[in-house]
Amino acid sequence: MRVTRAVVVMLIAIIVAIGDAHAAASGQSIHFDQANKVFRLDAAKVTYAFGVDDKGRLQSLYWGPRLDASDRLPPAVTPPKADGIDGDINRVRQEYSGWGGGLYYEPGVKITFPDGNRDLELHYQSYSIKGDTLYVALKDIERAIVVTLEYEMDAGTGIVRRSATISNQTATPVVIEQANAATWFLPRSRDYTLRFLSGRWAGENDINERPVQPGKTVLESRRGTTGMQNEPWFAVRRNDADETHGQVWFGALAWSGSWQIAIEQDQVEQVRISGGFNPFDFGYKLAPGASLSTPSFYAGVATDGLGEASRLMHRLELTKILPQAPAPRVRPVLYNSWEATGFKVDEPGQIALAEKAASIGVERFVMDDGWFGARNSDKAGLGDWVVNQQKFPHGLKPLIDRVHALGMDFGLWVEPEMVNPDSDLYRAHPDWVLYMNGRPRTEGRNQLVLNLARADVRAYVYNALDKLLSENDIAFLKWDYNRSWSEPGWPAVAPDEQKNVYVDFIRNYYGILQELRKKHPNVEIESCSSGGGRIDLGVMHLTDEVWTSDNTDAFDRLRIQDGFTQAWTPAVMMAWVTDSPTWVNSRTLSLEYRFLSSMQGSLGIGADLNKWQPQDFATARRLVAEYKAIRKTVQQGSLYRLVSPQNGSEQSATESVSPDRAHAVLFAFLHSSTENYPYPTVHLQGLDANAKYRIHAIAGTFDPRTPLVASGAYWMHAGIDLLMRGDFQAAAVVFDKE
Ligand code: GLA
Repeated sequence: MRVTRAVVVMLIAIIVAIGDAHAAASGQSIHFDQANKVFRLDAAKVTYAFGVDDKGRLQSLYWGPRLDASDRLPPAVTPPKADGIDGDINRVRQEYSGWGGGLYYEPGVKITFPDGNRDLELHYQSYSIKGDTLYVALKDIERAIVVTLEYEMDAGTGIVRRSATISNQTATPVVIEQANAATWFLPRSRDYTLRFLSGRWAGENDINERPVQPGKTVLESRRGTTGMQNEPWFAVRRNDADETHGQVWFGALAWSGSWQIAIEQDQVEQVRISGGFNPFDFGYKLAPGASLSTPSFYAGVATDGLGEASRLMHRLELTKILPQAPAPRVRPVLYNSWEATGFKVDEPGQIALAEKAASIGVERFVMDDGWFGARNSDKAGLGDWVVNQQKFPHGLKPLIDRVHALGMDFGLWVEPEMVNPDSDLYRAHPDWVLYMNGRPRTEGRNQLVLNLARADVRAYVYNALDKLLSENDIAFLKWDYNRSWSEPGWPAVAPDEQKNVYVDFIRNYYGILQELRKKHPNVEIESCSSGGGRIDLGVMHLTDEVWTSDNTDAFDRLRIQDGFTQAWTPAVMMAWVTDSPTWVNSRTLSLEYRFLSSMQGSLGIGADLNKWQPQDFATARRLVAEYKAIRKTVQQGSLYRLVSPQNGSEQSATESVSPDRAHAVLFAFLHSSTENYPYPTVHLQGLDANAKYRIHAIAGTFDPRTPLVASGAYWMHAGIDLLMRGDFQAAAVVFDKE
């Protein structure tokens, strides 16, 4: 390219206008306007800016749709006095604050010093830029506590990653009682609605909305793990925004331990969103010279509604978060034995299932719980990761060899952080669990939680898994975690260090995953926790897929999956086809319906194939083949939630569009038709208006007058009429660019 003198002069003019400029090569840019002391990050459709005010505090200035490169943000200043009672610190839109100086809202960090002092005021010190990351150092006005904030904006989505590292540069230990990754401020307005996810076992991902009003909403887990009672995700929309229109701010935490996201509206109607470690029972003892890094908190802005907010999250996960990002492999079609055999696994039984699974095109055979120790029920065996000799007299090799001979790879269920009291491990090491001296040890599913923060427990767990993976040709681990913490004591360390367990446990969990992946790079891992109890951006960085819910009822799943995709990509959303009537609701659903529900995510089969009839195998064979042809679009395309299954809706529909818009897949479901109403016309979204798309149905039928080839504009505006009547009907239509 020829760079003319005029272009050079123009570029210099822009740089001079902005001040010190640091443009990163990767599509995002970071600028520091020296004169106004304003930091500005730009990428995709977003600008994020904050400045240093006259007292040295960092103030949020702007977070929203991208501004023009020539726009200069005015300097941050101390806001005018509102009353004579509260200090101005309660009105300042502080990016990250210490608890001190009379602050009444969520602080970034709260510290107790050994002399009893608990006041902390953080002022700007310096900044640096390394690669795509901006580092801003803050220091207490008197003590040697330095907090380094990180800001990194994703070039593709404009999503900002923030985290904080707290360094104790004093001569004594300190206790950190709260540590958030970030506080985000929304534009000043009363016009907001919060959306968040809640759930329970077999009922994950309920979508909730409530107006943002004075006061605070806390989303959290105090369970030591991510939990499914709230997911570590939020979205705040303008009141007039909906699925397809309007502004939405959203974000998610990358942490698999106790976490908190607080959405506050303060007394001058500013909305503050803070997130990080859950401060409940938190108390991290930090030695002199040591530092504590918070989890990362990712957040973004969408201008085209909640649908776009989800698509931006999905894109971030696919291109930045997942271990194989930016180009994750497609998920193989898997078979899992759990619903078919429960704990009654053995060599001939599993081989019989594997043969049947292979005949329908399954690519990965996974043996679930029951293969190890004295594991004949959930009452015994956890912790003893040795193959059960009665069930597998020749070890796992004959089964694995047979699975390979059938053209599939082999996966295995493990639950490494847990122990049954009835196990050899617990009999040998009763002190390896989380417990408090002299107190009852509360069991959940007859099991206790191993204290992974201990070096010896970490080594035991790593070695057991490493041995398993080294001695057997295993391609996949389903890593389960079937209870939350209770009595989270760590009696082996000093009383004032016991609460470090909240951080050290998770760090060791991540460390084991990292080391295993490094040593066994071909092994893929699923994060499971009694269903969807451990899904967050932290674990997603180290695992390849997640178990969505133990509830495999294909109709219930439509709602669960709709909630799931608010935050998480369908690429990792494991969905099995299981038996009908379902164990959950005794509901009878056709095999085709069950397939179509599961084909909206990453397809698996979990049915008892011994009970299938020849026509079931034929249906499955056909739909597995169809799925393989569309799965890249479903897993890695853009998801449009066309018709919501929420609030007792009689219909639902989703559409996935490949990134190049050459392919799209429509899934549509009818709960129950009433009073002779036809199925509403479905209008596609996200297609190339000018391109021609040819359609074919995978399942169900459309109006016979429908053109088989029409423009993207036609499918988006004229739409398609599906012929569905009755109860629990399903259809799927593929759109391929000509
Ligand atoms: C959990 C999982 C199930 C299954 C069982 C095995 O409940 O969510 O999928 O693996 O454990 O005990």
